[in-house]
Amino acid sequence: MLDQYAVFGNPIAHSQSPQIHTWFAKQTHQRLQYTAILAPEDDFEASARIFFAKGGVGANVTVPFKLDALVFADKLSPRARRAGAVNTLQKGKNGEIYGDNTDGVGLVSDLTNNLGFSLMDKKVLLLGAGGAARGVIEPLLNAGIAQLKIANRTPEKAQQLVQVFHVLETGITLTSGNWASLEDEQYDLIINATSSSLSGDLPPLPDGLLTQKSLAYDLMYSKQPTPFMLWAKQQGAAQVADGLGMLVEQAAEAFFLWRQVRPETQPVLQHLKSLEKA
Ligand code: ATR
Repeated sequence: MLDQYAVFGNPIAHSQSPQIHTWFAKQTHQRLQYTAILAPEDDFEASARIFFAKGGVGANVTVPFKLDALVFADKLSPRARRAGAVNTLQKGKNGEIYGDNTDGVGLVSDLTNNLGFSLMDKKVLLLGAGGAARGVIEPLLNAGIAQLKIANRTPEKAQQLVQVFHVLETGITLTSGNWASLEDEQYDLIINATSSSLSGDLPPLPDGLLTQKSLAYDLMYSKQPTPFMLWAKQQGAAQVADGLGMLVEQAAEAFFLWRQVRPETQPVLQHLKSLEKA
């Protein structure tokens, strides 16, 4: 039997992960099978137990199960523990389940390798303080940035994240605030990790946050530019990107963890982009 992998989510029908991992496997001559599993919203655990009992060796986990996967895992990577979420599971030799989070490293890879944006000494603004935001903070703090501000509709949640990540003692200025606190500020990179794009909304951001050298990045991806991306273009950002590259890069990190082989992401990303345009 081929090694079995899967992505768990709800909904899951439109997940690109099976396609991405099947391409990675072909490219690196790895013999494996990767499927999509629709788990019941209230019972991720049962689905995951059945999958691993039947010979599954690794899995990705997407919305809304990243917290369930954190609880499900027997052992966690430190970055998954701090992210408070697991997007990658791996079965160990003794049957124990290891949980990791590759979302943040996926974002940093996309920024630096695909978009050619150096994070060194940059001022970074992260919008949102939910699960998606929390998942990318540690890799950003480890990527050489100078400052990180977390802004959120509910500023108390952003302040809580500052406290969680303060323990890393990176020496990087880490602050938080509400939208109004952004008045008269400027950033090299703004990352939208709110779920506002899902409802076609945009946080009420002041003008002037972006410069002609800034990059605006939406963790969401969709065929059409998100409201945040349209706003950033109109505000004169040098570069605007969605989260498709991050999706491919987090998948490559998971693939590497499972197979110890690093797939080439560029051809897969280009292919997905061409499908988006079709
Ligand atoms: P996710 O896992 O996608 O991060 P989440 O944990 O529910 O989802 O977090 C959603 C984030 O988007 C939060 O930061 C939320 O702000 P609050 O903490 O104030 O709720 C933010 N958010 C959702 N809808 C928004 C909107 N319309 N405008 C601004 N922020 C929004």
